[in-house]
Amino acid sequence: MTTAPLEDSAGLAGKRVLLVIGSGIAAYKVLDLARHLRRAGASVRAVMTPSAHHFVTPLSVGSVIGDLVHSELHSLTGEAEMGHIQLSRDADLVVVAPATANLLARMAQGIVDDLATTVLLATDKRVLVAPAMNLRMWLHPATTRNVAQLKRDGVLFVGPMEGSMACGEYGPGRLAEPLDILEAIRDALRGDTRVPLPPGVTGRPPELAEPSLPLAGRRVVVTSGPTQEPLDPVRFIANRSSGRQGHAIAAAAHAAGAAVVLISGPVALADPPGVDVRHVETALDMRAAVEAALPADLFVAAAAVADWRAAAPSREKIKKGDADEPPELRLVRNPDILAEVAGRAGGRPRLVVGFAAETENLLANASRKLERKGCDLIVANDVGAGSDVMGGASNAVHLVSRLGVETWPKMSKAEVAGRLIAHCATLLDSKP
Ligand SMILES: Cc1cc2nc3c(=O)[nH]c(=O)nc-3n(C[C@H](O)[C@H](O)[C@H](O)COP(=O)(O)O)c2cc1C
Repeated sequence: MTTAPLEDSAGLAGKRVLLVIGSGIAAYKVLDLARHLRRAGASVRAVMTPSAHHFVTPLSVGSVIGDLVHSELHSLTGEAEMGHIQLSRDADLVVVAPATANLLARMAQGIVDDLATTVLLATDKRVLVAPAMNLRMWLHPATTRNVAQLKRDGVLFVGPMEGSMACGEYGPGRLAEPLDILEAIRDALRGDTRVPLPPGVTGRPPELAEPSLPLAGRRVVVTSGPTQEPLDPVRFIANRSSGRQGHAIAAAAHAAGAAVVLISGPVALADPPGVDVRHVETALDMRAAVEAALPADLFVAAAAVADWRAAAPSREKIKKGDADEPPELRLVRNPDILAEVAGRAGGRPRLVVGFAAETENLLANASRKLERKGCDLIVANDVGAGSDVMGGASNAVHLVSRLGVETWPKMSKAEVAGRLIAHCATLLDSKP
């Protein structure tokens, strides 16, 4: 269980959270969650499913959040102002807790038969769900299918945990602890929580439409995350890349109007909505997926591809054995995907961007990498001890090109992504 101090408001102060409360025995714990959110400076509005009223009263939820609780879809006053749309838009994040099996099923199917599910379908923001149910309900293939579908749709999950249930059974299905949900909310609120409309759809009448998007009509391929190189069926070589920067770049390219393919190594992140995500494990898989995704106007290699892989991964688990001598590990070089794409004779993307994560001589190494790989731009970042870049939420980068070095101040990975994509769009427009 997380033990974050309650007064720690980092990332939550001023944020607006819409809580959707389902009809589960754990609904009372949401009062605690709402209390923590408010103490951390977030404002909370709440929607309860009609059936949730059996478990917690609108009066108690309302007293904790300091606002009226909403339940009625066809309430005249609310709907006169298109209440369900407004509720779904006036939030930075929608949090469903407890998410019952029924609510997950309705969400996965797009069923809209009460205020909660209407808000969940109409929202333009990310949705985080905290499931809670009996272990048989959680493990049932129908729930497994619904959860998989929701994850594909970009819905974020926290929990459930394993533990004792109100029904006396023990297993997976307990609601995550309120402080763990709070942490997941904090994570989900990092960066842009808006879910973009598909390219070409603005949601506004043509006369009010924004000027055309900077990457409209362009195709972008991004790699992200680490690769995992197997030693045997249970062990692998990997690195600390979280994929946050690469995923943020893919999301920013999509928001800029591009058709985006994101090739992701194993990460703990949700797929960015609207992006064609292809999941891979090893460097060889990633190379094949990149080849299949090209051609593109812009290729951004943000993945931390392992330089080496085991020469001969074992089919069986390598035994520790009795001898003191550890097994010998022979490595071979992995393909250099960035250099291969930049060096393509035919079908080279017009702009090829690489990343250089260095722990020393950052700029000199980045310039050498630019030449060695033949790419157009290197985004260089210092990943030395204490930099908090690998896995962290922010990044301080230098843009190294043949014209020189541009240094950007430390900013969130989403901001780096937005600026990088805007920069690339300008370069693409100016390239013959
Ligand atoms: C005492 C009791 C406890 C329940 N607890 C849960 C639960 O923890 N999780 C769950 O998925 N359903 C639970 N249910 C079943 C839901 O209440 C039921 O499926 C309901 O229709 C879900 O409504 P919703 O979609 O508004 O959440 C419980 C039912 C009862 C009677």
